Amino acid sequence: MAAAKKVARIGVMTGGGDCPGLNAVIRVVTKAAITQLGAEVLGIEDGFLGLIRNRMRPLDWQDVSNILTSGGTILGTTNKADPARFAVGQDEHGQPLFKDVTNRVLEHIAERQLDAIVFIGGDGTMTGAANLVRRGVRCVGVPKTIDNDLMSTDLTFGFTTAVQTATECLDRIHSTASSHHRVMLVELMGRNAGWLTLHSGLASGSDVILIPEIPFDLEKVCDECTRRGQLGKRFTLIAVSEGAAPLGGKQVVEKIVHDSPDPIRLGGVSAVLAEQIANRTHLETRATILGHVQRGGTPVAFDRVLATSFGFKAIQLIAEQQWNQMVVLRQGRTEAVPIESVAGQQRTVPPDDPLIAMARSVGTCMGD
Ligand code: F6P
Repeated sequence: MAAAKKVARIGVMTGGGDCPGLNAVIRVVTKAAITQLGAEVLGIEDGFLGLIRNRMRPLDWQDVSNILTSGGTILGTTNKADPARFAVGQDEHGQPLFKDVTNRVLEHIAERQLDAIVFIGGDGTMTGAANLVRRGVRCVGVPKTIDNDLMSTDLTFGFTTAVQTATECLDRIHSTASSHHRVMLVELMGRNAGWLTLHSGLASGSDVILIPEIPFDLEKVCDECTRRGQLGKRFTLIAVSEGAAPLGGKQVVEKIVHDSPDPIRLGGVSAVLAEQIANRTHLETRATILGHVQRGGTPVAFDRVLATSFGFKAIQLIAEQQWNQMVVLRQGRTEAVPIESVAGQQRTVPPDDPLIAMARSVGTCMGD
């Protein structure tokens, strides 16, 4: 790799919700910047907040040793701070007041002499990075999220580990469902994308899989629970996305986080459904929300390798002075697409995804 003379100092930050594999990227970005470019690395703390508040620290070889296998991010993160719409206080009604603090961010980038910044994040982070691209900052994006909902990449790191964790939880609940002859609902994260639920629902052999992309018919879900009983299967395991909604109905919103760029937090559909199914079928039901357990823990081997190859590709892009690109995985190879082309978009499960047909072929009810 040819060293790029003009890049002497690189910033690296993790933005949005944490996920397994972030530290693996920080590690390779730092080490490869040193070995391939002879550059210094500054770790930006707590996502965009570090750029807004000028909180950065040097990362050297020792700082990133022994972090490959650890979950979370040594730099910290937040899914709240958007420089273009930063909460600076409250009005007289207790509502947040927002201000565009992008100029402050640009001052801090200049003051710290950052020649390029690696943004490790999801669509919110890429949207923030795209705003900085328009202001002349040299950015490279690395896609992370357990939701797997970033445009243009076949996969984000963190997703495979979350699928593994969720599947293990579903397996555990499977045995209780079977022993107690219950309808057990397990609610998974993913926002408006059903990837996590579809993959772990399939991996666990869930009897019903409900995803946001296929509005469910409550009658059909109840019929499936009853039908299984008639066939001698005295339990039903239901994997349901937090974003799943009934035909013609709405998603269940748990809370609104006003100072977040994506303020809606989904959650609670499993409890609502459990009650409706119990009332209609008179079967015993229980609901479990897996929650943030899906985001934590050590990355599986696949995610460690994927995160490392993404981070390495980011340094290659910097070496080649290919600015404002996000690393993607396409047909097993790391490539790059313009950050602006992915900002503000979500990749949901297409209706013709082969996994849906596959699920149906083994008798899984998709709720429709
Ligand atoms: O985007 C990752 C994710 O875990 C989503 O699946 C979930 O809806 C959301 O973040 C939860 O956000 P928070 O950590 O703010 O509760």
